[in-house]
Amino acid sequence: MKQHSLQHLYERIRRCSCDCPGERQGAGTVRDTGNPEVGVVLLGEAPGREEIKRGAPFVGQAGINLDGYLRLADLTRSDVLITNTVKCRPTKNDGRANRRPTGCEIRSCARWLDEELQILAPRLVIALGDVALKRLGGQAKRIGECHGEPLMLNGITVIPMYHPAAVIYRRQLEPVIAADFTNLQKWL
Ligand code: URA
Repeated sequence: MKQHSLQHLYERIRRCSCDCPGERQGAGTVRDTGNPEVGVVLLGEAPGREEIKRGAPFVGQAGINLDGYLRLADLTRSDVLITNTVKCRPTKNDGRANRRPTGCEIRSCARWLDEELQILAPRLVIALGDVALKRLGGQAKRIGECHGEPLMLNGITVIPMYHPAAVIYRRQLEPVIAADFTNLQKWL
């Protein structure tokens, strides 16, 4: 039932043409992945080059990191549902690089994520990074101050976590993220 509704939703997402300014070279979209029935959603930022190429979220370096963190929580991808805040790929330098989505893109995609969350009705959303946290209503929050602990945002229980790509730029976050994922079991 959820699978069917998600399929229909993603068919509509594929036909969506975003009218925000900003480069989206070969934008494409990526389907969510995992188990829609489990009630635990991992929410990322937006697909990157590798995700568009392979048609699944978190399959590049951030995804390799994420798989390692999930193992610390004793989880696999089939124990969660993984999706993104923005459904197509924000690019720069003629598609050579990924970029952070703009406010316009996040707002424009909000209806898709709202519908997706309505279908999934999760008991818990793990917000991977700032974009996901702010999109869920945590505008006043900073990941650095609230990571790893549940918050109630607009009626949804949200656990903010550092984005798994954060360690690529800030190695010192590695033990912090590892500890948050190790502790995640107690909230599941
Ligand atoms: N980063 C994200 O936030 N989402 C992806 O799907 C891949 C990398």
